[in-house]
Amino acid sequence: MSKTYRIISVVGARPNFMKVAPIHRAFEQYAPTFEHHIVHTGQHYDAAMSDAFFQDLEMPNPTVFLGIGSGSHAEQTAKVMIAFEQTCLELKPDLVIVVGDVNSTIACALVAVKLGITTVHVEAGLRSYDRSMPEEINRIATDAICDYWFTTEESGNKILKESGFPEDRIFFVGNTMIDSLHFAMPRAEQSKVKEELGLIGKKYGLVTMHRPSNVDDPIQLKSLLEILAEISHERAIVFPMHPRTSSKIREYGFADIILSGKQLLITHPKGYIDFLALMKDADFVLTDSGGIQEETTVLGIPCITARTTTERPVTIELGTNILIEPNPQSISKALHDIVHLPRKSGSIPPLWDGKAADRIAEILVKQCIKTQ
Ligand code: UD1
Repeated sequence: MSKTYRIISVVGARPNFMKVAPIHRAFEQYAPTFEHHIVHTGQHYDAAMSDAFFQDLEMPNPTVFLGIGSGSHAEQTAKVMIAFEQTCLELKPDLVIVVGDVNSTIACALVAVKLGITTVHVEAGLRSYDRSMPEEINRIATDAICDYWFTTEESGNKILKESGFPEDRIFFVGNTMIDSLHFAMPRAEQSKVKEELGLIGKKYGLVTMHRPSNVDDPIQLKSLLEILAEISHERAIVFPMHPRTSSKIREYGFADIILSGKQLLITHPKGYIDFLALMKDADFVLTDSGGIQEETTVLGIPCITARTTTERPVTIELGTNILIEPNPQSISKALHDIVHLPRKSGSIPPLWDGKAADRIAEILVKQCIKTQ
């Protein structure tokens, strides 16, 4: 009887879903010899942060939901590890795929590698060189222990090769997040979200802010909200708010600043399709997210990233992204320039063509069969 290969892809937090959905679809081409299972750690658990993405990305329910939830870094990582070890012992996968840089990524990679399971990092080699970002520690640690590395951009290849990772196990495949963008765009075109928010025929800026460095510090958060309120007198601003940000606004009592804006629309976090619909027609995007820097590059929408570093340099070299110091003066100037001056135009980075997951599946299928 021929062998069946069992593969687990781990999802935990919002940015993981769009990276794994295309991988799941790609492995369906190799069923039943290859069985692909999604394991959801439950790092993100609100319907708006999790379920909505399964629906929008047409992903099946996870085989296993670990239900970990929020906590300190150590607590969250440790709980994921304990639960995921049990899952691996029960499902006995031949391969574990982890994506991106969230706590679930490093937690599950560590478990799988120590159980002797071949472990693969998708979106490997990215570095911001800012060790105060929890994600940077997750990226470094995950790359260090995995067996195969799939990269989205040339910087990732270079970093891994220069760090001495074996070249025959580094594969430049493109960006699975962009696969999801291509997949969902026809439905984003049909979205009614702009109508619902009263944005038809209006120019608007789209904002997301959730990094601890921008929202946990009350002084930083206050000045960010004040700038947005001020700009909203000139341009509508839509701000789908991450739960971390809304809870900090409540805790610090900043609701009045928001109310002082003229067209400052705060909404719950949007699902994938509605967010894509908002992003593709935005005048500009102001963000501290990782993935949005990539999506705006593909959509050709000017992106201002309020961070001092990026782990995704291709979005600056080829794309529409610019980095600015996250202080009131720089943000204010960048928003003014984007409204009044000619914009940065960009091009689409190599292999960001919607086919990255197919390349990943093809390579992994060959590797599995070779090492049988
Ligand atoms: C995590 C990732 C970050 C990613 C972000 C995307 C890590 C270290 N960070 O940050 O890289 O950019 O997800 O969203 O893994 N909360 C809810 N509901 C949820 C999830 C979270 O209310 O479904 C609230 C809780 O108050 C929680 C806080 O948000 O304490 C932070 O959640 P957490 O998963 O710790 O980190 P994020 O800031 O979401």
